[in-house]
Amino acid sequence: MKVLVTGGLGFIGSHTVVELQNEGFEVVIIDNLSNSSEKVMDGIVAITGKKPIFEKMDLRDKADVVDFFKRHSDITGVIHFAASKAVGESVENPLLYYENNINTLVYVLQQLQEKAEANFIFSSSCTVYGEAEKMPITEDAPVQVAMSPYGNTKQIGEEIITETCKVSSINAILLRYFNPIGAHPSAEIGELPIGVPQNLVPFITQTGIGMRAQLSVYGNDYPTPDGTCIRDYIHVVDLAKAHVVALQRLLNKKNVDKVETFNLGTGTGSSVLEVIQAFEKVSGKPLPYRIVDRREGDIISAYANTDKANNILGWKAQSTLEDGLASAWKWEQKIRS
Ligand code: WQD
Repeated sequence: MKVLVTGGLGFIGSHTVVELQNEGFEVVIIDNLSNSSEKVMDGIVAITGKKPIFEKMDLRDKADVVDFFKRHSDITGVIHFAASKAVGESVENPLLYYENNINTLVYVLQQLQEKAEANFIFSSSCTVYGEAEKMPITEDAPVQVAMSPYGNTKQIGEEIITETCKVSSINAILLRYFNPIGAHPSAEIGELPIGVPQNLVPFITQTGIGMRAQLSVYGNDYPTPDGTCIRDYIHVVDLAKAHVVALQRLLNKKNVDKVETFNLGTGTGSSVLEVIQAFEKVSGKPLPYRIVDRREGDIISAYANTDKANNILGWKAQSTLEDGLASAWKWEQKIRS
């Protein structure tokens, strides 16, 4: 069974390609390499021994997308990761985000809606919930006004998919990720942030390896037990496996609705200070940090209610925060060695 993975050389995409290959799928990757490199392909092959088909392409070029689906007319399953994902950048350059995250989605869906049957897995984000009232967050928590153009593109993307599925043969599953961290245990693939990492865990591992002098903790005056923000940090391999389970659900026609939504988290919230303590435990070294002002746009707390993913999708995260941090640390040491 041939499956298209857009953004398949990216952080979550590459880990999902590995898990798809482990389940016997033939994988075709489209990636424009704007936030990844072809070296990631070597890592995938080192893990699975199987080389996916790779086409360097920018999904913003509609003619290229049309041509691709003509050449791969047997593709009816798509896992769509390709998108820009930096919250701060999206505030500075909203049109880049609306073009890259929305136009590309439309072009891929336009090709799928021509088929007798199509299955579509969408990379969404807990960011659609904004500052949710109730913890843990369930899938029926209200989608709040987006805090950034990035978050808005995820909300709009979900709406586009839902409306398209109503009038076409496409079935879809929207996967709302909490905070993906870590790397494949082999340390053959992992996160490759460009420039100064915006996310907590890659900044921590780069501080641990000595690339950064110290971590800045963005505020410790939040209404939480230790004053720092709480998030649900999920191992990227657990997240990748959820995509395969979701695709198989559609292929086996187990879906109850044409569009289903699942939160992908561990169900456990961890504060920034707890992440630091966990990292010090797995690395065996103290992590230099200082408390600074809050970061604009940060929400206080977000962690998942995982009942629906566990009981309906039939997937449950297996790894702990420490597992995720240990794999991230092993990866950081590998790429800096
Ligand atoms: C986590 C916590 C920070 C860096 C973002 C996107 C979300 C998703 C995941 C794409 C927060 C604190 C961070 C640092 C810190 N991305 N922090 N010092 O903001 O929860 O989510 O990435 O889908 O859409 O919004 O993740 O890792 O940036 O921050 O104190 O140097 O760590 O304040 O409390 P976030 P994050």
